[in-house]
Amino acid sequence: MTSRKIGLTLGVFLTITASVTGLVIVPNWQFRELQPVKKADGSQYPMPLFGEQAKGREVYIDQGCIYCHSQQIRMKGYGADIRRNWGTRRSVPRDYIHEKPHQLGTMRTGPDLASIGSRQPSTVWHALHLYDPQITSPGSIMPRFQYLYTELRDGEALPPGTFEADVVKIPPQFQKNGVTRLMPTDRGKALVEYLKGLNKTFPLPEAAQ
Ligand code: HEC
Repeated sequence: MTSRKIGLTLGVFLTITASVTGLVIVPNWQFRELQPVKKADGSQYPMPLFGEQAKGREVYIDQGCIYCHSQQIRMKGYGADIRRNWGTRRSVPRDYIHEKPHQLGTMRTGPDLASIGSRQPSTVWHALHLYDPQITSPGSIMPRFQYLYTELRDGEALPPGTFEADVVKIPPQFQKNGVTRLMPTDRGKALVEYLKGLNKTFPLPEAAQ
């Protein structure tokens, strides 16, 4: 090997090693001891997701919500996140210890969703918004996710295995083509459970403000 080739190989090797060390190994080592904190009622924060919420997270990931929504609140003085009521405190590494892959996101075409569950706890609101954002948020540029819902026309029977309690009525002024009600699909239901569970407002010692 010529000395140029050795130099090049060494350069590539060092670049890769330095990036992996700086971006993966050191941060993992710094945060390796982060544990959940105990709440007054004996439960812990954060809790790993299971059941519907874990399934909903998969839907959030495969629908690409991250391309328009972040899940991280910046501290006071670094932006208007807290003033906009997106959260009550800044986000810290402990918030994400159970999240693999985390959904921090970088794009904010829509509002931050780190604590959407505390800001918007209504199942009906989320259903109408996902089915057609224009119903709850006129002028919204968020795409429709109507395929997460089964459209029901007036008098139409519920799909087999579904429950009346899950039916969402469309307000009369937004009813089109005789569709008056919506039945969430399994994925739609799980996604809304996930969104309602997003809540990073629990006070943490390292995020005092
Ligand atoms: C093309 C960009 C885009 C994509 C993709 C997108 N959104 Fe949005 N979203 C927006 C915009 C813009 C708003 C603000 C207007 C509105 O409320 O519709 C918004 C608002 C929201 C809100 C209400 C936030 C609040 O503070 O009131 C929720 C909840 C939400 N989106 C969830 C989702 C979910 C879940 C997905 C994936 C299934 C998704 N969004 C995909 C752009 C997007």
